[in-house]
Amino acid sequence: MSDVVIQTTNLSKELASSLLRRKVRILSGLNLSVQKGETFGLIGPNGAGKTTSIKLMLGLMRPTEGKAVVLGMPSGDKRALARLGYLPENPYFYSHLTGREFLDFAGQLFGIESKQRRERAKELIEIVGLTEAADMQMRKYSKGMLQRLGIAQSLINTPELVFWDEPMSGLDPIGRRDVRQILLELKEKGTTIFFNSHLLPDVNEVCDRVGVMCKGRMVVQEQVKNISGGGSYKDLEDFFLEVIGKAESGGSANFEEAVS
Ligand SMILES: Nc1ncnc2c1ncn2[C@@H]1O[C@H](COP(=O)(O)OP(=O)(O)O)[C@@H](O)[C@H]1O
Ligand SMILES: [Mg+2]
Repeated sequence: MSDVVIQTTNLSKELASSLLRRKVRILSGLNLSVQKGETFGLIGPNGAGKTTSIKLMLGLMRPTEGKAVVLGMPSGDKRALARLGYLPENPYFYSHLTGREFLDFAGQLFGIESKQRRERAKELIEIVGLTEAADMQMRKYSKGMLQRLGIAQSLINTPELVFWDEPMSGLDPIGRRDVRQILLELKEKGTTIFFNSHLLPDVNEVCDRVGVMCKGRMVVQEQVKNISGGGSYKDLEDFFLEVIGKAESGGSANFEEAVS
């Protein structure tokens, strides 16, 4: 169906562990579909497999089994990459460049012509609140400023789909509010948003649907309105803790299963 923007089928990843002398499954059979315009939040404890899932969808990692189709194309296809934005978990910056120069560079990678690049960079600098610091070298930026710049970078090509890995990380409450605002504006424009976060109140506020991962498996996917909208849970945190508690004590504990 053309309205499905992200589709994964049995997406799985194993890595060889020399320490354990066997293969370790870090993602098991992920089946997920995200609709156009949807905001999907992936939550789960550290090491659950959230970043791995994003990297597989982007084609930055190859799956051991299964596949991902993004914007109608196999993961990693350049035509899809040109239409999406990505904020990595630990973005790398060229510290001698200014924020504005970095955005210009990011725009060049997408083949955006010079005048349009300048205008887009200016617009994004304002959106993420870096106007004062735009012409300062990035080595002088705080963690929060770098995070804001990373977000701006992910939007340089006016993407129709964004993957944000921990977008609120390193931000103070004002920064978090700003990111929520940017997210809501993107959402209003119909952008499809896929992001990971530990900050459940933020996820609750902006997401249409959440997926909870634990030990390399998607444990549950649910509409946010069914969780915190007067259902059987007090809030998203209550839901999250119950789901994770069950997952950790039961069913999906074959995280480090020997596969060879
Ligand atoms: N390149 C790698 N080599 C070895 N182990 C990895 C690698 N990438 C991820 N892992 C392991 O896979 C698991 C899932 O990692 P990750 O996807 O980064 O989790 P999350 O983003 O949910 O914190 C973790 O146990 C992590 O240590
Ligand atoms: Mg991660």
